Amino acid sequence: MRITVIGSQGQLGHDLMSSLSADGHQLTGLTHQQISIEEAASIETALDDNAPELVINTAAYNKVDLAESAPEAAFTINTFGPRNLAMYCHQKNIRLMQISTDYVFGLEAARQSAYGEHDAPGPLSAYGQSKLAGEYFVRAICPQHYVVRTCGLYGKAGKTGNGNFVETMLRLGKERDELSIINDQHCTPTSTRDLSTAITRLIQTDRFGLYHATSQGQTTWFEFARTIFELAGMDVKLNAISTEQYHAAAERPRFSVLDCSKLKATTGFAFPDWKEALKTYLES
Ligand SMILES: NC(=O)c1ccc[n+]([C@@H]2O[C@H](COP(=O)([O-])OP(=O)(O)OC[C@H]3O[C@@H](n4cnc5c(N)ncnc54)[C@H](OP(=O)(O)O)[C@@H]3O)[C@@H](O)[C@H]2O)c1
Repeated sequence: MRITVIGSQGQLGHDLMSSLSADGHQLTGLTHQQISIEEAASIETALDDNAPELVINTAAYNKVDLAESAPEAAFTINTFGPRNLAMYCHQKNIRLMQISTDYVFGLEAARQSAYGEHDAPGPLSAYGQSKLAGEYFVRAICPQHYVVRTCGLYGKAGKTGNGNFVETMLRLGKERDELSIINDQHCTPTSTRDLSTAITRLIQTDRFGLYHATSQGQTTWFEFARTIFELAGMDVKLNAISTEQYHAAAERPRFSVLDCSKLKATTGFAFPDWKEALKTYLES
């Protein structure tokens, strides 16, 4: 298939390029220098020549805390970007995949069971709202769509690009003797390599719609950090703190574990457990 990946130098975009090319697809990767999804004219310029059959949009405004004080940037890129892409793709009969987030959930404060695709979302932050609105535009405008929600991404491109939790912990662990990490937000961090494998399988199916896609199991950021240092053989003193003690600008879900059984039933792909995936990432 002729596929264009938007955000090809990002964490997910980078690994998708490898996974899709290994599967024999004809690929074009577009960097932020080559396309700005918030501008319809830029989309036409960048996509017209490639005539893709599928566009995968991994580009996003991911600064969750900054988005609280400057929501315009988040809505411009995360909401109007996907809207522009959906209008372009529908008009040209191109399939569109939009990547979204577990931060579309959180409003149900007492939630303790994994969210399915049919559960009502309820974002707590401007970032979550902007991503959810982006999903809605894609679903409303472009019937041939996949919307894939994921969580806590880490991948190789995070070492040099916008960073990720694992790389941040490894850096801070070298700089400081002691760290305080939140222990009351439950979710499932996911490797972009595994997510790319799942997406590569999903696009073979023609089964459009909304999918949840994360590693298996669940953890907290504290437990995740503890495991990172344990696997990396680093001795760092960790303090478990509450969300309130951290004073972040954006409110985050206390529980945003996603039920990924629909994706597994559709593709046959089983994500590894989050600890296994982390081990593989650190070993590579
Ligand atoms: N990271 C996470 O923990 C996480 C969790 C859940 C869901 N997600 C979603 O997963 C997707 C991929 O995340 P990621 O971690 O791979 O992101 P990433 O590493 O930040 O990559 C995003 C890429 O998009 C580019 N980009 C940013 N704004 C753009 C624009 N307006 N037009 C075109 N390109 C633009 C960026 O380029 P520059 O850096 O040069 O601006 C970057 O290369 C996003 O949709 C994100 O919302 C991420």
